Amino acid sequence: MARHLITSALPYINGVKHLGNLVGSILPADVYARFMRARGHDVLYICATDEHGTPAELAAAADNKDVDIYCREMHDVQENVYRGFDISFDWFGRSHSQQNHDLTQHLYKKLDENGLIEEVESLQVYSIDDGRFLPDRYVEGTCPHCGYERARGDQCESCTKVLDPTDLVNPRSALSGSTNIEIRPSKHLYLRQSKMVDELRKWIDTKTDWPHLVTSIARKWLDEGLKDRSITRDLKWGIPVAYKGVPRPGFEDKVFYVWFDAPIEYIGATAEWAEATGGDWESWWREDKGADTVRYTEFMGKDNIPFHTVGFPATLLGSKEPWKKADYIKGFNWLNYYGGKFSTSGKRGIFMDKAIALLPADYWRWYLMANAPESQDSSFSWEHFQSIVNKDLCDVLGNFANRILKFTAARFDGKIPAAGEYGPVETETLAAIEEKFRTYTDCMEQMEFRKAAAELRAIWMIGNEYLQRAEPWAIFKQDPEKAGASIRFSLELIRLFAALSAPLIPDAARRMAESVACTGIPAWPSNVKDNMSALETGAPLPAPEILFKKIEDEQITEWIDTFGGAES
Ligand code: 2FM
Ligand code: ZN
Repeated sequence: MARHLITSALPYINGVKHLGNLVGSILPADVYARFMRARGHDVLYICATDEHGTPAELAAAADNKDVDIYCREMHDVQENVYRGFDISFDWFGRSHSQQNHDLTQHLYKKLDENGLIEEVESLQVYSIDDGRFLPDRYVEGTCPHCGYERARGDQCESCTKVLDPTDLVNPRSALSGSTNIEIRPSKHLYLRQSKMVDELRKWIDTKTDWPHLVTSIARKWLDEGLKDRSITRDLKWGIPVAYKGVPRPGFEDKVFYVWFDAPIEYIGATAEWAEATGGDWESWWREDKGADTVRYTEFMGKDNIPFHTVGFPATLLGSKEPWKKADYIKGFNWLNYYGGKFSTSGKRGIFMDKAIALLPADYWRWYLMANAPESQDSSFSWEHFQSIVNKDLCDVLGNFANRILKFTAARFDGKIPAAGEYGPVETETLAAIEEKFRTYTDCMEQMEFRKAAAELRAIWMIGNEYLQRAEPWAIFKQDPEKAGASIRFSLELIRLFAALSAPLIPDAARRMAESVACTGIPAWPSNVKDNMSALETGAPLPAPEILFKKIEDEQITEWIDTFGGAES
């Protein structure tokens, strides 16, 4: 048993996330966390809402709410939506927590003591009509790199380049739309990342097993020459530039930049978890307090990779304290919506609350993971979603379980029949499943989720092939005992499939286990054969229920109408 710390990128507080966000970090992290727990590891899966910066302030303003209240409410809204998707966070914290204030200010102090913080007077965008500075997303304009006209001051959504507000062509205020803008000097703290290039490169060079997507983005940043990075902003909402309650002189009206404090909240949220549960957060994060034996895996979309391969490690390394750093980063490409972008700000695509109102979580979980944008972008369409759900979940898995359960109810009085000797068909079936079970486990361990889903689907298919070969319904008249043994074998398979499917479709797994009179999800098998005599002969089964319902063409037409389809 090993200790696994898992984090997924913190969702911005500014509203419920769309399915593209979900599949780019939180859902795969959950699947991995569930898998690792099932394998007997000690797992801590941590996430939180990212509550500072301009996304929070702008969303609160649009909602006519005090930003403090907005964040508190929206945190709970988001937490409920994740619960609806069966996300098994050990803690879902808030980057505005006291713990994150303390840790962020502590790390700032250490960086300062180590000569890595510099006060720099820099030019900032100032809106004369709004009477304030416009950091980050408070300013919009044309991207100087790709020409996208709705680029934001912190990053271009179109080409993912990180921007400075003064880079934008034709800038305008995101608050008022005013173009009455000037450039004014303002003093800020810069983290001297340029002094840390060698140390960062050395750290990245040790990560020989990391995906190319991740290391290539990190190396590109280092090769291009790392610029010192401003870690403060002219904003009111955020973590004050202070230490132990005393503001840094000249910085009384400034706060830390959201991208400085957000990753620190991975630690902060662990401290929140510790306070709530009596756990020991330092044993997960301080290498001098036990975290040297922890394996830490981070999940995120590709736009977040620079901040996690360079920004956050620079903070941790620069503190010269023994903080835990990522052992592995799993990055994702984009999930598109009919080939175009899912977009929170553009309100395009399917948002999690809407999705869950249409269908239970497992339909989405399966579709998203089976088509996860791992090696390249992938694209959602309602037609594709319908075809995957109907084929994999209904025709393959659902059909397998339903046929057996119905037959047990009709011919065996709804009770588990006795087992018999395995013949060649059973032996071959188990051998085939065993082989797939090994590759499935390997893929999950490697976090190759698309391949893992394909292997799991193949396991379900072997179940169906077994039924076709054994044909218990055909032999029932002549040899009810043999048919019973075959049904018993199949019921054991349902239990096995419940265990194996649980990381991806936990609710269906629970229901499958219940359908064969087991409570809770069965333990992960060490091998297939030894797990084929777990059920109790004669145990009564509940009345069979349909596992998955087919998605009808009319539903698809209606949903395309509501959410937009190819032409939207
Ligand atoms: O891009 C985003 O959605 C950010 N809120 C991710 C933050 S990840 C972490 F570093 F906090
Ligand atoms: Zn761009």
